[in-house]
Amino acid sequence: MAVLRIRTNPDPVLRKKAKRVTDIESVQRLIDDMVETLTAAPGVGLAANQVGAPLRIIVIRIPEEEDVITLINPEIVEKTGERCVMEGCLSIPGYQAEITRSESVKVRGRDRHGKLVRKKATELLAQALEHEIDHLNGILYIDYIQDKDELLRTDEETE
Ligand code: NI
Repeated sequence: MAVLRIRTNPDPVLRKKAKRVTDIESVQRLIDDMVETLTAAPGVGLAANQVGAPLRIIVIRIPEEEDVITLINPEIVEKTGERCVMEGCLSIPGYQAEITRSESVKVRGRDRHGKLVRKKATELLAQALEHEIDHLNGILYIDYIQDKDELLRTDEETE
């Protein structure tokens, strides 16, 4: 396994629409590396295009929970409600902003073994699923803010 370099805005790979995965066997190594990269960052979620691989794969780890959720070719099939959330992104280090996300989402995809997964999520997991699936479509959370003044510096910033 390896920690991969996380691409930061405005790297053009972040704006590419990621391709569907057809050969699940061929992405096992990439998934391992994405999990290691997410752990090292550390972060809540990572999409494959953030490590330079424009494929439809996301990994999510909610703090305090052990299991990493890996979804291949994930799709949001339903979303309900709206709520304001603070959001950041490993590809936009040092910043966060308040944006609107859904209260709950239903997602469908495949796990790393190719098994069909359906998931209903709320709170941080719903937010992370929307954020990471946006990445696969070339969308960044900053696309939802009206102007740059809404971007706030995070206090973790040390540079
Ligand atoms: Ni992100």
